[in-house]
Amino acid sequence: MRGVLLALEGVDRCGKTTQAARLAETLRQRGHTVETWRFPDRTTATGKLLDAYLSRAAEMDGRVAHLLFSANRWEKADQLLRTLQRGVHVLLDRYAYSGVAFSAAVNQLDIDWCRATERGLPAPDRVFYLDVSPAAAAARGGYGGERYESVPLQEQVRRVFLEHLYDAGRWHVVPADGSVEQVHQQLLPLVLECVEAAEHHNTPVGTLW
Ligand code: TYD
Repeated sequence: MRGVLLALEGVDRCGKTTQAARLAETLRQRGHTVETWRFPDRTTATGKLLDAYLSRAAEMDGRVAHLLFSANRWEKADQLLRTLQRGVHVLLDRYAYSGVAFSAAVNQLDIDWCRATERGLPAPDRVFYLDVSPAAAAARGGYGGERYESVPLQEQVRRVFLEHLYDAGRWHVVPADGSVEQVHQQLLPLVLECVEAAEHHNTPVGTLW
């Protein structure tokens, strides 16, 4: 039985990282093998360039940044598939949907052009979009000063996520204004349903888009 591939998405400070950690902990307590993966992976060659770009230490054309974010996922695609084939469930903290939403919204790039570089990547079995208003997200702990951390930009990012990338067959939009525990309690049954369903069938991993 292969592992399931689940993606958590949302605007900056929506709580994905906290929820991914809580979900991994709960799934492990229930006997599942789980890894959490985060994109961008800032440890790889492309990830170091992206880290400099996001922290404003380096400037680059928006298209170049988009291609690097995408390459950062392609660098890990084979390892991701091998991990799933070993029966490990993988929780992705951001994925190709962030790739398209941020590039299209922030750098005003054509959505189809943005989607094209993600085509063929392993497709998540389910996407959980943690929906907070960008103003509420900013109020949580404030933004740290990285490149895209402003409320108007995040409003545009949210619009691309929900108007252009939402896919009724694969996405759950989870209201995420509540406490960590409230959001976890909403996510957990959805995630368990997906993990437990995978134990009864062995469909191959799909590809985007
Ligand atoms: P991340 O490290 O997840 O930051 P945070 O913990 O604040 O959510 O992502 C850093 C930034 O990179 C974030 O503003 C979203 C953006 N991003 C892209 O523009 N394209 C991408 O493909 C990804 C994965 C992230």
